[in-house]
Amino acid sequence: MKRALCPGTFDPVTNGHIDIIERASSIFDELVVSVAKNPEKGGGPLFTLDERCDFIRQAASHLPNVTVRPFDSLLVDLARELDAKVIIKGLRAVTDFEREFQMAQLNYGLDDTIETMFIMSIPEYMYLSSSAVKEIAGFGGSVRGLVPDHVSEKLAERLGRAR
Ligand code: PNS
Repeated sequence: MKRALCPGTFDPVTNGHIDIIERASSIFDELVVSVAKNPEKGGGPLFTLDERCDFIRQAASHLPNVTVRPFDSLLVDLARELDAKVIIKGLRAVTDFEREFQMAQLNYGLDDTIETMFIMSIPEYMYLSSSAVKEIAGFGGSVRGLVPDHVSEKLAERLGRAR
């Protein structure tokens, strides 16, 4: 049984994330999407941990080997607890590389039995990020096609001006 973790803040999940989750779920027996509480990141998340998890559960409901799990610990500790040997991260443009390389090195230093592996973003989602989505929605722009429809509706509710 090959179990992998796909960690992130997912505030909120984008179609780029979903693409990575779908592709990773076709490689591993089980994929646990691990949603970090991350209260400090960028002044705090827009959506609660429960909301972020529910968005992913709904968007990944067609993938039977995907589960969603919140966490508030070191990622390697969660990996050990769940007996997952692989961390999957999506990699977009080169701008992601430095930060991802740092996280992969740190995690390797903490536990060298857990491998970080990267899945390259498809060109369509290369410059898509949760922050960009929130900015667009916050100024009333359309985020259709960038996030699942149920997320786009919640963004509209939360940010008022979004469509
Ligand atoms: O969506 P992000 O910002 O790429 O996710 C970052 C995340 C949640 C994967 C990272 O912050 C994380 O692993 N946090 C858990 C704490 C931890 O293990 N830190 C040490 C390695 S950086």
